[in-house]
Amino acid sequence: MANTRTVTVINGDGIGPEVMAATIRVLEALKVPLEFEHKDAGAEVVAKYGTNLPHETVEAVLRSGVALKGPTGTVVGGGLPSANVGLRKRLDLYSSLRPVKSVKNVKTRYEDVDLIVVRENTESLYAGLEHIIVPGVVESLKIITEKASTRIARFGFEYAKKHGRKKVTGVHKANIMKLSDGLFLDCCRKVGREYPEIQYEEVIVDNLCMQLVRDPTRFDVMVLENLYGDIVSDLCAGLVGGLGMVPGANIGERTAVFEAVHGTAPDIAGKGIANPTALMMSAVMMLDYLDMGEEARRMENALHKVYGEGKIRTGDLGGSATTREFTDALIAAL
Ligand code: NAI
Repeated sequence: MANTRTVTVINGDGIGPEVMAATIRVLEALKVPLEFEHKDAGAEVVAKYGTNLPHETVEAVLRSGVALKGPTGTVVGGGLPSANVGLRKRLDLYSSLRPVKSVKNVKTRYEDVDLIVVRENTESLYAGLEHIIVPGVVESLKIITEKASTRIARFGFEYAKKHGRKKVTGVHKANIMKLSDGLFLDCCRKVGREYPEIQYEEVIVDNLCMQLVRDPTRFDVMVLENLYGDIVSDLCAGLVGGLGMVPGANIGERTAVFEAVHGTAPDIAGKGIANPTALMMSAVMMLDYLDMGEEARRMENALHKVYGEGKIRTGDLGGSATTREFTDALIAAL
């Protein structure tokens, strides 16, 4: 088929294959001109490849330029370094974009949440650069660079400008980490001066968490370094119904990997009850990225229709639908 784009598909671990199969079914029902090339990554493929991030998977994403990825598991304390961190570093996917929006009929404390989390994806403590100095003493390195901070700030302001958002909040802990977070803030301020039409403010990360819980409408686009972005993303997910609802994209200069915010959900894996919405919304973001806006809107509208009708929903939202039943309803709504 002419103009068919190849998308690398990485199922991942836990609920990954379940939500991925559901999402691919919807994309196929949409008849988008996409071809799916399946590649492996994650804890469950280590025995086969001796690594959780096979070289051929990275090569495939470099070739296709676009991947749809399920979550990959990482052992707590010990084990191999995270496949996610590896993928983001090797593809230089420097920005993580996570739109957090209320969905009709998903009952939460707030009805009008509309936040954008822009997370730096390559450095800070989340890079996991740590070593044992002597037994009982560990050093973990927080590297913050002007280059990475400037480009994530620019990504945040550009996003705000392109999408008509009014305000960017630089999130930090520069009262304590005066040099590292201080540099991050300096970069946000400098970039912000180039966008006089967009309001810029700064909030200390702990205060941000409290303010978000009290009144999420106070914020718009938030720009955060890696670790704060990781934590605040989950907090924001909780404001709109949980991790089953929030999509994400990891974007670099030449490649982009679309994946939900959630992890492998070991507690429900294999039961066929995971909520595929987050990965499906990530696929919507992918379609937009690929300039397939019409298909993106059809998929997004179908999701809103299913939620709008309020009949079919998965267990995480208080319903009893299985992943398959939810997906069937969505395909019927297309
Ligand atoms: P998690 O996101 O997997 O689960 C947290 C809670 O949310 C669980 O109760 C789970 O059942 C629920 N949940 C998550 N996604 C859901 C969905 N789609 N539908 C219904 N319920 C859902 O977080 P956790 O337990 O901290 O991490 C588990 C593993 O996932 C870890 O190995 C972690 O490293 C990995 N992880 C991977 C990510 C990725 O690949 N992008 C992101 C976050 C975690």
